[in-house]
Amino acid sequence: MYYSDELIEEIRSKNDIVDVISGYVRLQKKGSTYFGLCPFHNEKTGSFSVSGHKQMFYCFGCGAGGNVFTFIMKYENATFGEAVKTLADRAGVKLPEIEYTPEMKKAANEKATLLEINKEAAKYFYYLLRSEPGKTGYKYFADRQLTDETMKKWGLGYSNKFADDLTKYLRSKGYTDELIVKAGLASRDEVRGTHDKFWNRVMFPIEDINHRVIGFGGRVMGDGEPKYLNSPETPIFDKSRNLFGLNFARSSKAGHIILCEGYMDVISMHQAGFTEAVASLGTAFTSGQANILKRFTDNVILSYDSDGAGTKAALRAIGILREVGLTGKVLDLKPYKDPDEFIKNMGADAFRERIENARNSFFFEIDVLKRDVNLDDPEEKTKFHREIAKKLCVFEDDVERNNYLEAIAREYSISADGLRKMVNDVINRTGLATPIREKPKTGIQKKTEPDEGIRKAQRILITWVSEEPQIYPLIKEYITEKDFTEPIYATVAKKLFEGIENNNFAPASLISEFEDEEEQKEVASLFNTKITGLDGIPLLMDAIQDRERALKDVVVKVKENSYEYYSKALSTDVDALNEVINGKKLLEKLRKTTISLN
Ligand code: CTP
Ligand code: MN
Repeated sequence: MYYSDELIEEIRSKNDIVDVISGYVRLQKKGSTYFGLCPFHNEKTGSFSVSGHKQMFYCFGCGAGGNVFTFIMKYENATFGEAVKTLADRAGVKLPEIEYTPEMKKAANEKATLLEINKEAAKYFYYLLRSEPGKTGYKYFADRQLTDETMKKWGLGYSNKFADDLTKYLRSKGYTDELIVKAGLASRDEVRGTHDKFWNRVMFPIEDINHRVIGFGGRVMGDGEPKYLNSPETPIFDKSRNLFGLNFARSSKAGHIILCEGYMDVISMHQAGFTEAVASLGTAFTSGQANILKRFTDNVILSYDSDGAGTKAALRAIGILREVGLTGKVLDLKPYKDPDEFIKNMGADAFRERIENARNSFFFEIDVLKRDVNLDDPEEKTKFHREIAKKLCVFEDDVERNNYLEAIAREYSISADGLRKMVNDVINRTGLATPIREKPKTGIQKKTEPDEGIRKAQRILITWVSEEPQIYPLIKEYITEKDFTEPIYATVAKKLFEGIENNNFAPASLISEFEDEEEQKEVASLFNTKITGLDGIPLLMDAIQDRERALKDVVVKVKENSYEYYSKALSTDVDALNEVINGKKLLEKLRKTTISLN
């Protein structure tokens, strides 16, 4: 849903950031700023600041920062659109209704009804589990060491022995057979009429990220086929875009997500305190699911069965994670089959230890390869090394590839140079990736990003101007947004300078222009950089000469960098020439000038 900038800004300005955050974090006023314990990392002293003046928050510990929308997005793990809704509700701002076509209305109504039916069914199963006929189900769960609290949290239930029990109940609630079938809870044929899909099973409701029941998994108690029966895909149940447990795992602060195969695994991990666990829905892990996970974490720890099928599934999942840019690790739970069994036998602490020792997924892939290789046979050994070389080509970035290459060479006692040669052979033959330089020129490979010192100078300048706009007239002859060579910085500088010229700069409103949380964080850091000299030494307010010198150093550094930047871009960028010619003149003038703060 698209909202106008004016509306977003109205919502933002009606939600005072100090008020909003006070509802989540205990804040104490110090000077003009509020401080508290950061909700986004573990800390004992409060480095989390909220400025009513800037309408921003910023943590000096972990760098989290942004405006009131960022806070809600981060705290509630919400999208930008969801944060807008939450804050609009809070401030009593009415959001425009979406204009539905009649078909959309019908589909939306149908979906709403299907959700209702699933919810009714969940309530019914839940009730049955606690009734006389459900005793066997309750005992089944209790024998599997689930506590009453856990059963409640997951809404676990039981489906009765009769084949039309639920259908009758749902009919009595006024739903048609057609809709009950469409909801995935019953089937219809000529012999049996409409009959329940689930009977005499313990029931696991499957909820979407907003805790709405969208389907069920049902397990036989004891042996029997199939062990698990799942709701079919329906208009509300898309198995490739939902994950069991994500409605709870989304708020976990573990810093990673554990991905496994079983409903019971997820539940027993959560019961043991690992609330970051999720599972796919009886189907293979998909890239749609990977993309959803990416909203919540960069690190996924795979916990698949250690048997052949599990290993194969893990290898597939690693590839899918890699494609969407997520790093994978793999848990080793041997000698146990799955997390549920491991935790039952070894306990939570041992499980935590296994998490800490999870194997990097690339190494895991090589381990698997190695299983079938007889390293005493020279031919097999060579083939093994070639396979490794081929696999290394998945890393497009040559620094990363080289790091992996060296680590693998060390771990498997292979000559790094030999392996490098093989990789280059593969690349030359296939055109995959780019060849690895034989030997880096210096010990440390140069990254293409501008160096951190320059970024820092740019950040200091932006914070400085936003806190003391009176210095802008002193530097505007030399500095424009074009001198900020980081794209985000340039956008911010442009707005900042325009705002000062027009006397209406609101840093917090600028943040809403970036929908991505990482970008919002970066923008917030631009307004919260400690004002120091380039040497990192803080400046005192009344040491005017120090401050003048430091300001000049920062301006010169920013200008020098931009001059170099445009000089390099001359061959590809038509605007660069102007910047270079002017830049040179201004730099010469600037070096001779003193900036006077009086
Ligand atoms: N599954 C399924 N249909 C089956 C078997 C399994 O949909 N016939 C799915 C279920 O989502 C299940 C997961 O695959 O949770 C893992 O199956 P499995 O490893 O066989 O079972 P566990 O999770 O270990 O279940 P339990 O501990 O209850 O035996
Ligand atoms: Mn199991």
